[in-house]
Amino acid sequence: MHSTTRGFALAGLGLLLAACGDSTSERSAGPEMPRFEGAELGLGRGVWMQTCRNCHLLGVSGAPAVTDYAAWSPRLEKGKPALYASALNGRTGPSGNQMPPRGGNAQLSDQQVKRAVDYMVAAVEHFHERTGD
Ligand code: HEC
Repeated sequence: MHSTTRGFALAGLGLLLAACGDSTSERSAGPEMPRFEGAELGLGRGVWMQTCRNCHLLGVSGAPAVTDYAAWSPRLEKGKPALYASALNGRTGPSGNQMPPRGGNAQLSDQQVKRAVDYMVAAVEHFHERTGD
């Protein structure tokens, strides 16, 4: 009986976690993510919300948060091709922080990963313009 209850609670938690990636829970902790004009950025946003948000919304495990312009500006200076390559192949930073290839989602196509990078760069600039940080 006990284990059944526990299994039920875990299933409930799984549902909660699954719900985290979708639009219904965008009101959860962290800044509201912008929407931009254009189909490509819209698709990039979808990928970002599902895969990249986990680390890059708040800056989990050493990932640069979307709102942390100081962490992003030296990366932006490397240019888009370098950022695409990091996102596709993964990257270990100078402090040992690791970004898995494709954000850990091997299902993503090169194009989806690149769109997610484009979306993230646009979002970083959006927050920078808004706050001036
Ligand atoms: C498991 C956590 C995690 C996920 C998920 C994740 N990242 Fe990252 N990402 C990191 C970390 C950690 C770094 C910083 C590595 C370093 O120190 O340079 C990083 C850095 C980056 C950078 C900067 C790379 C550079 O060359 O400076 C880009 C671009 C990036 N991620 C894109 C993405 C995209 C796109 C996704 C979703 C497809 C994603 N990330 C998902 C952890 C993650």
